[in-house]
Amino acid sequence: MSTRVDYAVKPGGALQGRLRVPGDKSISHRALMFGAIAEGVTEIEGFLDGADCLSTLAAIRALGIRVDAASATRLKVHGGGLYGLQAPHTALDCGNSGTAMRLFMGLLAGQGFDATLVGDESLSRRPMQRVIDPLAAMGARIESRGGLAPVTLHAVKPLRPARHSLKMASAQLKSALLFAGLYAGGYTWIKEPGPSRDHTERMLHSFGVHLIRENGWLGIHGGETLSAARIEVPADLSSAAFFLAGAAMTPGSDLTLEDVGVNPTRDGVIRILRLMGAHIEIRHSRLGGGEPAAEINVKGGRLRGIDITPELVTLAIDDIPAVLIAAACAEGTTRVHGAAELRVKESDRLQAMQAGLAALGVHVDAVPDGINVTGTAHLKGGDIQSFGDHRIAMAFAMAGLRAEGPVTVRDCANVDTSFPGFAQVAKAAGLQISVEQARAA
Ligand code: S3P
Repeated sequence: MSTRVDYAVKPGGALQGRLRVPGDKSISHRALMFGAIAEGVTEIEGFLDGADCLSTLAAIRALGIRVDAASATRLKVHGGGLYGLQAPHTALDCGNSGTAMRLFMGLLAGQGFDATLVGDESLSRRPMQRVIDPLAAMGARIESRGGLAPVTLHAVKPLRPARHSLKMASAQLKSALLFAGLYAGGYTWIKEPGPSRDHTERMLHSFGVHLIRENGWLGIHGGETLSAARIEVPADLSSAAFFLAGAAMTPGSDLTLEDVGVNPTRDGVIRILRLMGAHIEIRHSRLGGGEPAAEINVKGGRLRGIDITPELVTLAIDDIPAVLIAAACAEGTTRVHGAAELRVKESDRLQAMQAGLAALGVHVDAVPDGINVTGTAHLKGGDIQSFGDHRIAMAFAMAGLRAEGPVTVRDCANVDTSFPGFAQVAKAAGLQISVEQARAA
């Protein structure tokens, strides 16, 4: 028996005041993994204590690394050095987290022991072959269930260096290969067809690893020593995205988000909302631990539909659900192109958004690699299925701000993977949300 969580959102309201959303998920995973293989004690401030990063934390401990927690968000990782990980006694459970599984594949492919990675039902449906193939080209021996989890990485030491010209821009894939490159003899080279978020490159720099950039190729040398670092994790832009979209589409909103990561390789949501006419101001930027962060102010107003190109989709890969809610309230049609990757996230996000928006009375056309949403001044209330996907749940919760009737969002427990406390934070900012718990079989 488990508990099912639904959100009940009353129509109306506006978002106001100041708030800080939890720490960045991508950076929190990486800080733990790099801290584990560094020499010395890595201190992490602002760690995301959401279920995804807690899966990574449990796995790191199962690999024999001591991690002390002064609080849920302040951790000390006692690094064991490049070859300090130990064989785990059981399978490493990545839960719902694609980032944990794909990055661990790279980190564990070149160890002197076997390790198996498992995940929940959603993660066990997500494609892993894209990581298995290039790792196999480096000599990794990997077993999977036809390209899906569980994935077993057999002992291979060292890996062979390789040149990888990737077919897709994916930070998870690039990062897995950078991890593997640390365990290969010589240089591993990687080229992407377009930019993907560069948190791994920035963090490697903070840990003292020198990367080479040559004609669009990124090179890493195996066997480099990582030196412990102090990582200040900024607030997660992809959690801020729901508040940015919600405030931008709701007249009367005036909201300030504190210390948000604004890395230019993933700030697509800000660029897209601005193109739609949103009033967004970025103030007091800082560069903490190699990652830019800033205060963001957003004011509500009228938005217009736009064409969202594949390049912008990559820069806003996790934030398209939030953007589509804003598009549903904009004048005209928003067309998203080159977004097929959204079909293999925690849910099929194009299908989930199509179904939910249609239930709110919005005109939507889905195409194989995208979606067209025509905005309306009269968003209806409705009953929405989140498909157990955190980002679908939070996006539709924000729809309540502009709906004419109550919005109920079903199956929202997985919001805890990326944004523990979302409903409380949203309520304090002015969303009329309450959490309903029911027993589910
Ligand atoms: C992530 C990369 C992105 C993103 C995911 C986090 C990362 O995935 O969707 O939530 O931390 O590297 P892809 O690399 O598959 O685009």
